[in-house]
Order: sequence, then structure tokens, then C-alpha cells
Amino acid sequence: MSKLIEVITEDGSFSLRSLFFKENFHSIRGALEESNTKFINPSALARFKGSSVKVLDICFGLGYNSASLFNNLIKQNSSLNWYALEIDKTPLEYSIKNQSFRKLWNPKVCKIFESLLLSNNFEDEYFKCKIIWGEARDKIIEIPSNIKFDLIYLDGFSPQKCPQVWSVEFLSKVIQKINPQGFLITYSSSAAVRKTLRDLGMQIYSIKPTNHSERSWSNGTIAIKNIDEMQLKKNTWIRKLSHMEEEHLLTKAAIPYRDPNLDNKTIDIIQRRTKEQLLSKQTCTKIWREKWGMTK
Ligand SMILES: C[S@@+](CC[C@H](N)C(=O)[O-])C[C@H]1O[C@@H](n2cnc3c(N)ncnc32)[C@H](O)[C@@H]1O
Repeated sequence: MSKLIEVITEDGSFSLRSLFFKENFHSIRGALEESNTKFINPSALARFKGSSVKVLDICFGLGYNSASLFNNLIKQNSSLNWYALEIDKTPLEYSIKNQSFRKLWNPKVCKIFESLLLSNNFEDEYFKCKIIWGEARDKIIEIPSNIKFDLIYLDGFSPQKCPQVWSVEFLSKVIQKINPQGFLITYSSSAAVRKTLRDLGMQIYSIKPTNHSERSWSNGTIAIKNIDEMQLKKNTWIRKLSHMEEEHLLTKAAIPYRDPNLDNKTIDIIQRRTKEQLLSKQTCTKIWREKWGMTK
């Protein structure tokens, strides 16, 4: 799992490519830019200025999302109760060693990262942080059940490469961890992920694309159980799904990933879904793509 190579992205920030998953950790446009536009901006962190916030980072990786979160919360004197799930320690070793990464943040962020690598924990007057190493499907139950998160970041490799962290069964465990007005934020705008979250009772919003977005129609998804309409209006980074995005959820692309006992291999999850897609009478995704001019 640790076969990794370093990548410099177009905004100058470094990232990694996993040879095991055959996928980059970040968009080639910029690791830092991706973290800011897809996770940090839609989090609307100013809401927690001078107060406290609970955050879960699933698939911590190099830690861009959490580093940027910590940096913002330090500046605005927020308190934090933070958990992370990650299977591999090597990316954290890379970020701690990388001088350009360290220079991006307040020195306290690097102190936290070093402590996480050394002892899985960090604690001071404001921050309480714990990383749980291992398979997220197994380890999520180690997070105390009384903690309900205000923000959950889900940043796994894409559903086709790592369906384990996007299955109905895993996502249903994830949403049990969110507080009623908390945000589950992901870069994924996959129809399967959105439809699964909606079927699990979440309200789905789209993260608005930026000028640099590879997918011109969305920068990802936010799922919320109970919407506070006022908060939503104030959050200029998110919007309701467009007609096109709604229609995407009616196609075969919206057939979910299933992992009944949370222990299936990638190939088994993908093959089960492919079979279900072949038998399904839902609209072919190709027709949707043609209708909305997405054919190359
Ligand atoms: C796209 S990268 C995460 C990028 C990250 N958020 C960052 O800022 O660098 C995906 C991460 O998921 C981890 N991962 C893959 N499968 C996992 C699993 N089943 N459980 C926990 N972590 C997993 C990989 O080791 C990798 O670090």
C-alpha cells in the first residue's frame, strides 16, 4: 500500500501518487488549492470563531485538509476535538519531512503532526487530537459513540479505485457520527455517492466549481441531515443540485457500491455493482452525458 511517489502540483504544493491505487492524492492543479476549494472554504469555519468544533478526517493522507483546518482554527482561537482515520503512516512521514509543506503553516500545526506520528495524539489547552491507524471500515467503531461531529471530511481515493470507503454500509456508519446540522464534505460528485447519501436520509448539496475546477459542474458534495436555512444562505460555496445533477442520480451511475459485511475486496465490490448495473432498467449514463454535452 505504501508504494508512493512524490508529485509537484501546479500551485507549487507537493503531493503523492499511490502506485497501489494508481491514483494521485490530489488534483494535478494543486494540492493546497484543492484542499481549500473543496474542503476548507465550504466548511465555513468562521462560524466557530472563539467557540469549539468537532471534526473527523477520514483518509488523512498527507494531511492537507487537517493542516489547513488547524491553521484556520489557531488564527481564530477556536477549540477543537479532532479524530482522523488513515491506513498508512507513510504519507504523514512525507509531510513532516517536506520543508515546503511545513512552511505553509503555523509552527503549531507541525508540532501536532509530529506528535500524531509519534504517539497518535496531541493535546493542549485548545486542541485535542487523535489519529486512529488502520482500515477505516474497522476503525470507525473506535471513535467514542457519544461524539457527534460538526464536520466530517471524506477524502478517499475515487470510488472506482477505493470503493471500500464509499459503500452504502460504510457511509451509513459515517453519518451516524455526524451531528444533525453537521456537514459531511467530500470532493466526490459521483452519482453513486450522492444517491447513497440521499437514500440514507441526508440532504445533498453541490460544492460550486471554481474557474480552475476540472469538472466544470461541481467541486464535490456536502451532505447535511437537518438544514439550517440561514446558515445555508450564508455559505456561498454551496448550492442545490442543478437539474443536470439531479438527472445524474436517475442513471445507472447512481447504483451504489455495496460491501455487506464491510470486508469485501475492491474487485468484489466493483463486480457486484457492475452486475447490478447490467440488470438495472435505469437510464444509461451515456444518454445523460450526451444530453448534457459531456461527450469528448
Ligand atoms: C486521496 S488520499 C488522501 C489525501 C489527503 N486527504 C491529503 O490531504 O493528503 C487517500 C488516503 O486514503 C488512505 N486509505 C485508502 N484506503 C483506506 C482505508 N480503507 N482506510 C483508511 N485509509 C485509507 C490512503 O492511504 C491515502 O492516504
